[in-house]
Amino acid sequence: MCGIVGFIGDSSASSVIMDGLTRLEYRGYDSAGISLLEKGKIEIVRSVGKLVNLQESIKEYDFTATAGIGHTRWATHGKPSFVNAHPHKSNSLSIVHNGIIENYLSLKEELMGKGYEFHSETDTEVIAHLIDVSYDGDLKGAVQGAVKRLEGSYAIAVISEKEPDKLVFARKDSPLVIGVGNGEMMAASDIPAVLSRTRNFVFLEEGDVAVLTKDSYEIYDENGILAEREIKRIDWNPVMAEKSGYRHFMQKEIFEQPRSIIDTIRGKYRLETGDVYLDITDEMRDSLEKIDRIVIVACGTSWHAGLIGKFYLERFAKLPVEVDIASEFRYRDLVMNERVLLITISQSGETADTLSALRIVKKMGSSVLSICNVVGSTIARESHSVIYTHAGPEIGVASTKAFTTQLASLFVFALYMARIRGLMGEDQARKYIEELIAIPEKLEKVLSQDDDIEELAKTYKDSKDFLYLGRNVNYPIALEGALKLKEISYIHAEGYPAGEMKHGPIALIDKDLPVFVIAVKGSVYEKAVSNIEEVKARDGIVIAVCTEGDKNLPKICDHVITVPESCEELSVFLTVTATQIFAYHCANLLGLDVDQPRNLAKSVTVE
Ligand code: F6R
Repeated sequence: MCGIVGFIGDSSASSVIMDGLTRLEYRGYDSAGISLLEKGKIEIVRSVGKLVNLQESIKEYDFTATAGIGHTRWATHGKPSFVNAHPHKSNSLSIVHNGIIENYLSLKEELMGKGYEFHSETDTEVIAHLIDVSYDGDLKGAVQGAVKRLEGSYAIAVISEKEPDKLVFARKDSPLVIGVGNGEMMAASDIPAVLSRTRNFVFLEEGDVAVLTKDSYEIYDENGILAEREIKRIDWNPVMAEKSGYRHFMQKEIFEQPRSIIDTIRGKYRLETGDVYLDITDEMRDSLEKIDRIVIVACGTSWHAGLIGKFYLERFAKLPVEVDIASEFRYRDLVMNERVLLITISQSGETADTLSALRIVKKMGSSVLSICNVVGSTIARESHSVIYTHAGPEIGVASTKAFTTQLASLFVFALYMARIRGLMGEDQARKYIEELIAIPEKLEKVLSQDDDIEELAKTYKDSKDFLYLGRNVNYPIALEGALKLKEISYIHAEGYPAGEMKHGPIALIDKDLPVFVIAVKGSVYEKAVSNIEEVKARDGIVIAVCTEGDKNLPKICDHVITVPESCEELSVFLTVTATQIFAYHCANLLGLDVDQPRNLAKSVTVE
């Protein structure tokens, strides 16, 4: 959702904050603004639209401030407009906010009764006035008092003309990290914002209020007690958050997949013995031995990874697995206990619905294991154990390398479970590990077809609809391929289990409907061929993703994209990459903003 950056030090605050916002723009991009303590006075510059507009506006000023806060917005309350853009102001203080204040209407009435005028439709302005109304010379105290009255989620940054040597931050259910620099302090919604200035981070916990000066930081917990928080060193390097010659982050991230898979599985296996290692707690190890059911909960692309995880766990570990969408799961009558393991999957580690499911289930006595990409994120911190994907920062809003590293983690986890349950011998485990190790090189071969897939995209980019079909392990790939296409190219696309085609979607098939079929060699190959025949019999256009050397499909399909042969379980890494490249080129050829598609945000921290 929205992105927040705050800086205090000796350097130009506007440069540091603008640089940070550039790296956070993936979190929100309908408007942006900055608030600086310029010669003791608050100066605010705001713009509607992309950050580039703010960059233009700010050129008119010659700021010298060394402290300030900035924001990129993803609208929740009030449409994207100049008046709704953050920062907001109340007398001598200014604020930026990420999250949703659920009781803002009653607070607004109360504050209007006290004479405050509102200039925006946002819930944020309520927080500004709420802090101001109780301000008596102690900004930290006023923030602590105000946040106690808020219902909902927030990460806020506040500056005041009355206390120009400090920044105050607070968070609940929205992420905030403090970057600890040398003679300067920063805070941001996400690590990449300030990664070029520090690798040392402190993660704020629920209900924390932090006070930053240029040389110090103090954190007070939800009870107002001064708290000790560990500094974590982040091993991402700033270059990982750059485009490095690629046209878009998404393109770079697609091409990074061989490397990120290697990084994710490194150290997790021993080929000689077929053993699998997981960096989990002893308590988690014990509970994994006792479980008799697994529930996987996630959203969007991460949910698709979960569907493949189910396939791995049922096949290797013979455990019943349910996979649920977090926003549905959390509202059901759940049957969970200490013999059920909850796995949450989240790239960002901040997705509100997934986090909420985790919290509900923890109270019911189940262990929670999370697969997560961001060290120190809320989901990572609140889980009993975490398997980190080592994808590095994923900046493109459409998830790519996070997905394949989630698959790699789930595959390794399923092997681990199969081994501890005595269901997989050394030889078989070794065979699967060898297959997994071979995937990055096979992926390079898929990536090398980039130009051919671009040609295909040129032919079909103007289609109005697409159907994606797959069966068994290929079904989640059909869902994911369709999601990727719709979210960045805005072409309507449906992912369907291939066997369901006859139960409805077949009615859509005509000469204008391209149908993507995942039809690699494996247990359901013949069934996929039958589906292709059925589409062709109705004049549909078939683009098949098939195995290299398949002599049959090129004859009956309109187009094929080939992927190297691999075991069925791991073919998903290769097939999904083909669909990612296709979606990328369609969007790029249509001239769309690939990295920041309309209406979407990278980290969905509201329900
Ligand atoms: C799609 C996409 C989203 C996310 C979803 C969950 O490309 O990125 O569907 O997968 O919002 O996000 P995380 O994994 O951060 O919980």
